Formats: sequence, structure tokens, C-alpha cells
Amino acid sequence: MLPSINPTTTAAWAKLCEHFEHMKSIKMQDLFDEDASRGNSFNIQFDEFLLDYSKNKITKETLAYLLELGEEVQLKQAIEALFTGGKINKTENRAVLHTALRDFTQEAPIWVDGVNVLEEIQETRVRMEYFVTEVVEGRYLSSSGQPFTDVVNIGIGGSDLGPKMAVNGLENYRNHLKTHFISNVDDDYLYAVLNKLNPATTLVLIVSKTFTTQETVLNADKVVQWLGQSMEQDELTKHLVGVTAEVERAVAYGIDPAVIFPMWDYIGGRFSLWSSVGLSIALAIGYPNFEQLLKGAHKMDQHFRTAPFEKNIPVICALLSVWYNNFFGYQTEAVVPYSQFLEKFPAHLQQMIMESNGKDKNRLGNQLRYETGTLIWGEVGVSAQHAFFQLFHQGTKVVPVDFIGFIKPFSATDTNHTILMSNFFGQTEALLNGKEATREKETEDPLIQNFREFTGNKPSNTLLIDQLTPESLGGLVALYEHKTFVQGIIWNIYSFDQFGVEYGKVLAKNIQREIISNNVLKHDSSTAFLLNYYLRNKNA
Ligand code: F6P
Repeated sequence: MLPSINPTTTAAWAKLCEHFEHMKSIKMQDLFDEDASRGNSFNIQFDEFLLDYSKNKITKETLAYLLELGEEVQLKQAIEALFTGGKINKTENRAVLHTALRDFTQEAPIWVDGVNVLEEIQETRVRMEYFVTEVVEGRYLSSSGQPFTDVVNIGIGGSDLGPKMAVNGLENYRNHLKTHFISNVDDDYLYAVLNKLNPATTLVLIVSKTFTTQETVLNADKVVQWLGQSMEQDELTKHLVGVTAEVERAVAYGIDPAVIFPMWDYIGGRFSLWSSVGLSIALAIGYPNFEQLLKGAHKMDQHFRTAPFEKNIPVICALLSVWYNNFFGYQTEAVVPYSQFLEKFPAHLQQMIMESNGKDKNRLGNQLRYETGTLIWGEVGVSAQHAFFQLFHQGTKVVPVDFIGFIKPFSATDTNHTILMSNFFGQTEALLNGKEATREKETEDPLIQNFREFTGNKPSNTLLIDQLTPESLGGLVALYEHKTFVQGIIWNIYSFDQFGVEYGKVLAKNIQREIISNNVLKHDSSTAFLLNYYLRNKNA
């Protein structure tokens, strides 16, 4: 379904290689000095999003070659295949249709294996809306006849990170329900959460696309056991909800089919918060706000699908990322949202981007000889400034940074917001311009001043958004989903499977058996040494 086009064989790539010889020593400060209008030229405004990408090591010529690269790798055709249900997930023989989850237009059907997926998606949305409203408004009662007060989401990876990010991100839209996320195989943490809860009014969502992920099943067993200490088995089912592509497994687990919400093979875990995997989000903020989250994503979908590449925010972000990753050799990208509510946003992006593009084979299955997926990391600003911005300013490594900020706070007093945003703008300026070495005091040793030199010339994107609402958060997440997709198309990889994660699970199962049997089998000498040390000390 997707052609295999080696980007390094395109004419655009050759032009970029030659162009890089000139650009590799470019100083962005010079680019601004040479062109007073630069700050007004390299930006895109779409709806409530403003991307300023002028603080990058690019010229109009660079941009032209990058856009040409997008054309040569048939990006437009790939985007259409994404939206229309082409089986572009070739390694798993599936479509990739997270965009369909937020398509309310219902204009053209999207056929997958003879099924118009929009129908089953809409049907599930209706079921979700009803269920969520019944719980939030206190009509769907617990076994004790009381309304629910707490929701526990049991899931991991895409069944945890996206929902947790959105529930935290939309704190200003929360209702009375308290939401808790259990993902790791960590009994200490699990019981620390459960010990604060009243089982009689706790609703448990077991969220697993496969319904076989060991961590999730283990945690579900423990939570069901915890519920069982306070109620009879037949009462217990009132507290369980299932979200899975494997409905039969959920029924076999003992969940009432009436509260099992399906997800589908054409939805990747890391792209699934828009589906019934987002049930915890809808419960936390109410279904109308959840729908606004989806509609915000849909608006970004339409922008991505229709805007010309030079005015297309996800496309430009992806092209810049390829320019730094494959030509400048910058291995990582930082994302710094200037909102405490988005503290979980970098972690969600890590799975979305690194599980998608951490690939070393091209679409023909051949070993790649060029870099692909970047390392994504980040923390909220201003805190990040007191953690790792020293390296950004004076380190030997260059880390392109996405600064994400919001114009309007929710709080009435905007004093602190002004300070937050002053840092937001000030940091990108400091990274661009740096600072000459200066003596702070006449008496100071002249040598010291050298340590106060900031070379600057550190690239950043500034994404300014009106306010952190369900709609804008939906658009923001969709922006990065599409950036991830474009990177994968350019790198000629499949961004939709995750075989690498499956292998680790197999090894863990083998080692689990050896630990339980206290018998270490054949391993490399390091793993054998560690396992024997662990076994000697675990009961010492
Ligand atoms: O990390 C591997 C992975 O398969 C993710 O893609 C997925 O989101 C996560 O594990 C959980 O899988 P499931 O939802 O099937 O439990």
C-alpha cells in the first residue's frame, strides 16, 4: 500500500546534502540580522495554533528542498491512504484509522474488510456517552447502591499514557469523580492507591487492546481480589468495565458484556485515547468535553489533510525534525510545555513517537543505513529550566526544543502566568542569541567571564495556543500524531507495529520462570551473574 522510496536516493536529498555543507556552520543570529522580516515569515497560524519556526537553522532554500523531499516520497498519497483506510500497516496487515475515531462528518464511508468502520465507531460512541452520563450523574450505581466516587484505570502503554495525559491535562474540566491510573507491575504502588479508596464506590476499568498484557492482567487480578474482600462475586461485576479488541476474553474474565467497550485492530494502542480507551477521560471531564477533545483533533486532521505542505504545521515540524536528525545529527528532541497540567505530555509523546519510529528496517525489510526515530524527552517549563536547561544553553550537544505555551490562563489573577510566559519567550530568545562573556564585577578574575559565555544558535520551535481546553489539547495531540506519521513516511519505515516490545515480554516470561524455580539457565555472563546475585540476596 505504501511505496518503498529510499529518501537518500531522492533529488531533494542530494540538494539537502549539498546545502548542508553551507548550513552546517550557519548562525541563526546572522539570518535574523540579514532579514528583518524573518520573524514574520517563518510561521503558520491555524485556528488557535501559532507555530513560529523562525528560530531554526533554515533558510527559504532549506525549506524548499525539504518540501521537495515530501513531494518525492509521495507524502500526499500516503496521507490520503491514512485517512481512507488503506492497509498501510503492512506488517500487521491493518489499516491505521485513529483519525476515523474523531470523524464526525460521516460523509464518505471508510471501508475496512467490508465494514464501514464509521458505523461501529459511532455506535460505540453512543454507548460510551450513555454509560458515562449514567455514571457521572449517579444513575449507574455500585453494588452498594451508591453512585461511584472513584475510577481506577488499569492499563499500560497506550492503555494508560494517553488517558492519563488527558485527564491530567484537563484538570480545569474535572467533575466529582476521582481518577487513578495503575499501570506498572508494582504491588507497593497498587496497594498505596487502593488503600485510599472505598471499594464500595470504586469503578474499575480494565483497558487492554489484547486483553493479554501480563502487567494489566496481573493488576486486574489484584484489584478484583481487593474488591472481592468487600463484596460477593456477583456484586463485584457491577464494579468492572472492559475496554478491549478481544471482547470474548473480557467476557471470559467475568465482565458484563453490557459494559465491555470495543476497540479495533485498525487502532494502534499509542493512538487510541480517542476510542473507548479514553473512557477514563470521558468519565473525568464528562462526555461533552470528551467529544470536544475529539473535535479538536478532527480540526487538526482536516488541517493536516488539506493545508499545502508549506502551511501545514505537522508537515513543517516533521521536516525540521528530519533536517536536524539526518543532516545535523541531533539525536534527541525536547518538548517543554509551559503548563503544569501537561506534565504527562512528554511521556505520552515518547510512546507515540519512539514506539512508532524506533525502527531499523525499511519498508522492504532491509537494514537501514540512515537515522530514523529521534529520542523524545521533556518536562514542563519553568521547572525544566531548573533541571536541564543548563545543557541547552552551554552544553556541547544541540537539542532542538518545542516550546508549547498558552496565551490565556484559567486563573483570574494572571500575574504568575505573565511570569511563566516571560520565561517561555525569554528562553527561546536566549537559546537563539546567547550571551557574550561579561565580567560581573571589576574585581572578578577575567578568566571567570569565559564561563558566562553562551554561544546561542540553539534551535527551537514556539507553539503558542490560545488556551488549554479539550479542543486545543485534542488538536495538539493530533499535531504530534501527524508529525510522527510524516517522519515515518520520509524515513521509509512502518510506524505502526511494535515488534520490539513483544520480544522483551518473551524474555521476561522466561526469566520469571527461572526466578520462581530458583534455577538460572543459559544466559550471557552478565545476565547470569545478575540473576544469581538477585536470587542470593532476595531472601537474605
Ligand atoms: O508497548 C507495547 C504495547 O503493545 C503498546 O503498543 C500497547 O499500547 C501496550 O503494549 C498495551 O497493550 P494492550 O492495550 O493490548 O494491553
